[in-house]
Amino acid sequence: MDKIFRIAPSILSANFAKLGQEIENVIKSGTDMVHFDVMDNHYVPNLTIGPLVCDAIRDLSHNVGALIDVHLMVKPVDRIIPDFAKAGADIITFHPEASDHIDRSLALVRDSGCKSGLVFNPATPLHYLDHVMDKVDMILLMSVNPGFGGQKFIPATLDKLKQARARIDAYYEQTGRQIWLEVDGGVNANNIADIAKAGADTFVAGSAVFGAGKDTDPNRYDTIVGQLRAALATV
Ligand code: DX5
Ligand code: ZN
Repeated sequence: MDKIFRIAPSILSANFAKLGQEIENVIKSGTDMVHFDVMDNHYVPNLTIGPLVCDAIRDLSHNVGALIDVHLMVKPVDRIIPDFAKAGADIITFHPEASDHIDRSLALVRDSGCKSGLVFNPATPLHYLDHVMDKVDMILLMSVNPGFGGQKFIPATLDKLKQARARIDAYYEQTGRQIWLEVDGGVNANNIADIAKAGADTFVAGSAVFGAGKDTDPNRYDTIVGQLRAALATV
């Protein structure tokens, strides 16, 4: 059986002067989701984009069939969650360390009409999942420390992915509900197959995709996305 793999380009590495065109191109090149990195210069040492930009890209993203995958690297999270839901987010993930009441924040995401997820930094243990699996639609493992694109993949993530996959599969056996397993940071055509073998089904890639645009490609990113898909096809 063919496995379903989703590719989520992180627009952090896109050309922001042409953001709408970049999103259309990267989705038409064969990717699935717009990964939207929100940083607050407090939880992480960088400052990026907020609900206004999400609202600006919502129609064109949805028109090309892409989900908007909002990765919150902000603290606190509760006040801003409904704003992103109103701005068109389909999935909202946050870091457990950034919420004082994780169960409540997960419920708030769902109540706002979005899919919910928890994000684990490289050193954050998976036990935060113990009592909230029923409230989680996606688990996101960071394979770099959050804050910047273009960092190197941390190899210890592979073992952690296997552990997360075991939790998801055990939960699926019990409930029949599938939880997505996303990985974020340093993913490229050389390591994506190993990452998939470790259990990930959803792959964020920023610099590897947006750094490899070609004027000669019909949608600018066809070659690099083709390479990622070809590597995934070997899994
Ligand atoms: C880092 C972000 C990532 C980042 C990935 O904090 O969450 O989504 O943009 O970029 P690359 O693929 O370049 O590591
Ligand atoms: Zn991210």
